[in-house]
Amino acid sequence: MSLRLSRRQLLAGSASLFGASLISPAWSTTIPEKLPIPPQADGTNEEPIDLRIRAGEHTFQAGLKTPTLGINQDFLGPTIRTRRNTELNLRYLNTLDEGVSIHGHGLHVPGDVDGGPQLEMAPGEGWQPSLSIVQPAATCWYHSHTHGKTGGQVYRGLAGMIIIDDDESDAMDLPNRYGVDDLPIIIQDRTFDAQGRFVYSLFDADEDGWFGDTVVINGAIAPLVADVPAGKVRLRLLNGANARFYVIAFSDNRVFHKIATDGGLLRAPVPMSTMEMSPGERCEIIVDLGDANPVELLTFFEDEVDDEGEGIVGSLSTLVGRSDAAPPRASLTLRPEALLVANNAPLPEKLAALSHPEEHEIKNVREFVLEMDHGGNHAGHDGHGKMDMTINGAVMDMSVINERVGLGVWERWRIRSDQGAHPFHIHGCSFLIEQMEGEVVPADQQGWKDTAVLDDDDWSEIVVRFDHVATEQYPYMYHCHILEHEDRGMMGQFTVT
Ligand code: C2O
Ligand code: CU
Ligand code: CU
Repeated sequence: MSLRLSRRQLLAGSASLFGASLISPAWSTTIPEKLPIPPQADGTNEEPIDLRIRAGEHTFQAGLKTPTLGINQDFLGPTIRTRRNTELNLRYLNTLDEGVSIHGHGLHVPGDVDGGPQLEMAPGEGWQPSLSIVQPAATCWYHSHTHGKTGGQVYRGLAGMIIIDDDESDAMDLPNRYGVDDLPIIIQDRTFDAQGRFVYSLFDADEDGWFGDTVVINGAIAPLVADVPAGKVRLRLLNGANARFYVIAFSDNRVFHKIATDGGLLRAPVPMSTMEMSPGERCEIIVDLGDANPVELLTFFEDEVDDEGEGIVGSLSTLVGRSDAAPPRASLTLRPEALLVANNAPLPEKLAALSHPEEHEIKNVREFVLEMDHGGNHAGHDGHGKMDMTINGAVMDMSVINERVGLGVWERWRIRSDQGAHPFHIHGCSFLIEQMEGEVVPADQQGWKDTAVLDDDDWSEIVVRFDHVATEQYPYMYHCHILEHEDRGMMGQFTVT
């Protein structure tokens, strides 16, 4: 693999990567490129943000141009930055020759501005949603949600980050200088052919979805390097992959603190040394580089370090640093720069106040079973490509409302996977996980979530309340966030009234 590098980057990269301070040189066979930081689009002043959905060409590998899709740029889109209690006005224009809908994942907004498949923009059309941002500070994202084509369009580049700020989180002295000590990290994987084109096929995806063999972070092939202050650094991690679960750890196995889940800050920072992320999930972590040593954020393919499916927490710590273990598939070197002003404020002991509903407040219980149907609905095809993916026995049908939910009341949703792991996502809300497969929820998952992993077989339970309306015309979705499962029908629609 060759990379596009300036001479300066090359020299700087080699100094840090192969120098004496290095922890795991055996893994670093390629000189890293600089981590690209998506530009920010200011969504704090009610001025509409123009978002042009367009085709482009992006250089992932030196000398090769990859046909891509992007929003205002060749691949991916700007980071939309907004605040609680503001009106976020977006002005999309679809310049492609195919239909596109763009969904705000994690946003608590009504169904008619949620960007689900009903809100498809035809070629040449625009869409101007006005979003009242009423939720707490969080890292969210936006991405294609086009009926049956979400996987392919996200793969080609239709995704970006959304950051919501609020007064409470501003007051906390957490690292918040975007691109300096507060880094957006969009992790994806792609497969390229010899000409540099993306390789993707919904039809040929196996039953677990479509996996790329090459990790791409913010649109660049890892390994990558970022110059950061020698202090606390916040990483806003988004697993933007179509299907791949990642395991994250640092090369020296250092402890980091998870401070936020999908929907905002946790009650308190949770110390961790490994972390699993499913497609669709976001985690904010703080890593302390006060010792001024460079460290690599390592990205493992979950299936390579956890083939038993027993979970990696505790076991990965013995993997990191061992030469015979599954190597990380990509890394981002954080390189402390003495000249950058560091945030060395101690981490707050308390972050958000999260309150759980009382049992008597829970007014309704629903059950959802996610299934992969090997049966013969599509006899004559090769099986794989046309396997039905269902929730409660039904594939997604745009003309069917599967559930009707009351506005502003708490519900308990019991969710089970019949087979395999599925990240279950719900639009228009954040929820709290009560139990995972009958077991106690780990501390780092006890925050607001909108995407939760189900493994085989046991019931997981969440409590959720919807505070915005979704009509029959513009319903919300719940679905598996493995995009090939979603596109094959593992999705349902519901109203909130
Ligand atoms: Cu991130 Cu319905 O999706
Ligand atoms: Cu969503
Ligand atoms: Cu799934």
